[in-house]
Amino acid sequence: MSFPAERPRRLRRSERLRALVRETRVSPEQLVYPLFVVPGQGVRREIPSLPGCFHLSPDQAAREAREVESLGIAGVILFGLPEAKDALGTQGYADTGVVQQAIRAIRAECRELLVISDVCLCEYTSHGHCGLVEDGEVKNDPSLELLASMALSHVRAGAHAVAPSDMMDGRVGRIRSALDGAGHNDVAILSYAAKYASAFYGPFREAADSAPAFGDRRGYQMDPANVREALREVRLDVEEGADIVMVKPALPYLDVIRAVRESVDRPIAAYNVSGEYAMVKAAAQRGWIDEPRIVAETLTAIRRAGADIILTYHAKDFARTNA
Ligand code: PBG
Repeated sequence: MSFPAERPRRLRRSERLRALVRETRVSPEQLVYPLFVVPGQGVRREIPSLPGCFHLSPDQAAREAREVESLGIAGVILFGLPEAKDALGTQGYADTGVVQQAIRAIRAECRELLVISDVCLCEYTSHGHCGLVEDGEVKNDPSLELLASMALSHVRAGAHAVAPSDMMDGRVGRIRSALDGAGHNDVAILSYAAKYASAFYGPFREAADSAPAFGDRRGYQMDPANVREALREVRLDVEEGADIVMVKPALPYLDVIRAVRESVDRPIAAYNVSGEYAMVKAAAQRGWIDEPRIVAETLTAIRRAGADIILTYHAKDFARTNA
């Protein structure tokens, strides 16, 4: 049966019909909004590289979180810019750290919003690498202890889930046993399982002041050319106890999201990263694109590829325009 009997346009004649046969939907309850926490009180400063996003002190992060919750967005993921950095990233696992303060403040303000914390050393170390540096090299196994301490400290402050983004081998298992050992077997791990060494993180590194002082992250983050390796990373993280696995970045890696979708039965998250966001914002500011439509199309594409959850700086804008 083909033309004239088959006429796909019949189902495109009205918005009601199109909605009836729509295969993919995006809703705010599938989105997570990133927040950048800084020391102080009453601080709310727009981030130059991420227009529309702010550096927030813990009290302001709680205010922002209330707004995010009221928009129906699932949760927030927290990043911290500490008062001081050192070689061991001490402020990252101090119970008095900025993220720990923000978690407590948000939990006190919000009933339902999910609070997820990013677990990584790069924002807290003076050298800006995601693990411990010895002899000019990022050492895997000694880093695990510090990452586990950071995860525990976030959970003690009230995080519902922890999201390790460091890409050290074995960190999911180490964090799982640290959490279980402290009685937190109900706290989920969202692992950045397939995280690529990407140029799309540029605006984030400016926002989080986390660019490496020497070298780059190619010794621990993945080569953008590889997809089979992503499946191995995902399998290892699932074996170690990851509850949700993430692919990052999102839009340039839709094939990876699809491949992961077909290989595991876990929920999949995708991180629509800072560079993806900043490019849309910059073009929109010049009047070159229709921002709301670009955002809706982008998020739909990421969902269509197979992501259940999307971490995105567009979350608030999307929720407002698609309420
Ligand atoms: C920390 C971390 C990074 C991002 C999330 N967690 C930066 C990096 O790995 O350099 C990037 C997020 C974004 O670009 O939006 N390791």
